[in-house]
Amino acid sequence: MNAIIRSVGAYVPKKRMSNDDVAKMVDTSDEWILSHTGIKNRHIAAEDEATSDLAYKAADVALKRADLTSADIDLILVATCTPDYVGFPSTACIVQDKLKAHHAGCLDISAACTGFIYGLEIAKNFVLTGAGKNILVIGAELLSRTVDWSDRNTCVLFGDGAGAAVITTGNAKSNGIINSVLQAEGQGADLLKRPVGGTRTPFIEGKHKESDLMTKMAGQEVYHFAIRVIIATIKKLLNVNGLTMDDLAYIIPHQANIRIIQAACKRAKLPLDKFYLNIDEYANTSAASIPIALNEMHEKKMLKTGDLVLTVGFGGGLTYGGNLIQWA
Ligand code: UT7
Repeated sequence: MNAIIRSVGAYVPKKRMSNDDVAKMVDTSDEWILSHTGIKNRHIAAEDEATSDLAYKAADVALKRADLTSADIDLILVATCTPDYVGFPSTACIVQDKLKAHHAGCLDISAACTGFIYGLEIAKNFVLTGAGKNILVIGAELLSRTVDWSDRNTCVLFGDGAGAAVITTGNAKSNGIINSVLQAEGQGADLLKRPVGGTRTPFIEGKHKESDLMTKMAGQEVYHFAIRVIIATIKKLLNVNGLTMDDLAYIIPHQANIRIIQAACKRAKLPLDKFYLNIDEYANTSAASIPIALNEMHEKKMLKTGDLVLTVGFGGGLTYGGNLIQWA
C-alpha cells in the first residue's frame, strides 16, 4: 500500500500589495526588494479574514477535486505559525467546524515554513498504519498580521495564503509520498521568532511594545542556514532513493528568497530550471508556500502521473526537510 496526494487546492486573498505599495510605508524600494528577494507582490488578507478562513477555502477546493465530502475526512492537519488563537483552540478545529467534518481529528503542526512538509509525512504514516483513510493537510498563514509594518527588514518579505492536499491510500500507478527528511536545529531557535507573548516572555503592558509581539529575524544567519540545508536535504533524498537530479521532474522549494535558491544551485551545481518559483507573486507565505505552488502547477497541468517531485523547505525552529513524491 502507498499514500498518495489525491488532490490539491489553494486560496490567496484578493488584495494584492506591490513593492511600491510597501515603499509608501517603510524606507524601501521596488528595486531593493526585487533585487534582494525576487518578490514583486504579496497578497494580504481582508480585515475580517483569519487563518482558518484561508485554510477552509483551500481545503474546500482540494476536497471537491478529490471527489470527497467532509464526512470522509479522518484527520485535519493545519501547518501554521499564525494560528487563529494563541495555543488553543487549534486552527484545525476551527477549520473542522467550517467544513462540518465532524468525524475528523484535528491538530495544528508548529514547524513554521517546514510545516506542510512535516504534515505530508505525518499524513502518509497515518494512512499507511490504517489509522485513517483520508487526511487533509493544509498549510495556511496570515503573516501580514504578525509582522511589524515599520520594520523594513521583515515586512517586505511576507504574504498571506493557504494551500491544501488530500492524502489517501493510493494505487499501483504511483508510489505517492515515498519518503521524507524531517529535521531541526533547535540551537538556532533565537534566529527567527516572535520574542514576546509566549510563556517565556509574556506581554506586560508598559514594559513591552506592540512591535515586540511581531516577527524578528536574523536575516543573514537564516539565509546561510537555508542554503546549507536545501543542498543537504536534496542530496539526502536523492541518495536514499538511489536517484539523480535527472530523475526529478521538479523541485518545489519553500519560497522565501529567490537568491537563496540561486545560491544553493550555484554552490551545489543544481539545475535552477528544475525549481518551481512563484515568489514574485506571493512573497513568503511560510507553510502555505509549497502547497500554493503545487496547486499552481496542477492548474497549469505541469504535473503528470508518475512524475517524481521533490519538496524542500526551511524556517523558524529552525526546522527543515523535504519530501520525495511520485505524482498520482
Ligand atoms: O521563511 C524562512 C525565513 N526567512 C528567510 O529565509 C529569509 C532569509 N534572509 C534573507 O532572505 C535575506 O537575509 C534578507 C532578504 C532578509 C535581507 O537581504 P540581505 O541581502 O541579507 O540584506 P542585509 O540584511 O545584509 O542588509 C543589507 C542592507 C542593510 O543596510 P546597511 O546596513 O548595509 O546600510 C539593511 O538595512 O539592506 C538594508 N535593508 C533594506 N534596504 C531597503 C534591509 N531591508 C531593506 C529593505 N529595503 N526592505
